[in-house]
Amino acid sequence: MKTTLGTLAGVALIALSGAAFADEQTEIGKKIYDRAFGRGCGTCHDISSNPQLTANIKAGTLDRAKFEEVLTNGRNAMPKAMDQIMTNAAVTKAGYTEEMAIDALYKYISTK
Ligand code: HEC
Repeated sequence: MKTTLGTLAGVALIALSGAAFADEQTEIGKKIYDRAFGRGCGTCHDISSNPQLTANIKAGTLDRAKFEEVLTNGRNAMPKAMDQIMTNAAVTKAGYTEEMAIDALYKYISTK
């Protein structure tokens, strides 16, 4: 019985830390979105004539691979963004790798 309770408590703890990680991830994604290029991605993307990132992710036309590709290489008026992302204070503080930072940003935008 004790073992069963211990196991249950362990499962609950893992579930809780998973939730904490998800929150931290979204929070870091938001900080990147709000602060990249000084005024944030929204300076351009919250204007209707530019790609609507959240809508495109939801519509399935902007997947994780394409998102990373555009951030890495830029595209027309879209500047390369990886330097901006990796020097973001929230990213350096959390010690995120490029993959983790892109995941966080993609996740935040997809739930925005
Ligand atoms: C200076 C304005 C500007 C800023 C700042 C900017 N973008 Fe863009 N972005 C654009 C424009 C314009 C396009 C469309 C490029 C084209 O002509 O294909 C674009 C395209 C994109 C695309 C491709 C969208 C699609 O559906 O194909 C992604 C992804 C993207 N931006 C992400 C971001 C993220 C994330 C940030 C912040 C880190 C950001 N952008 C900051 C202007 C900007």
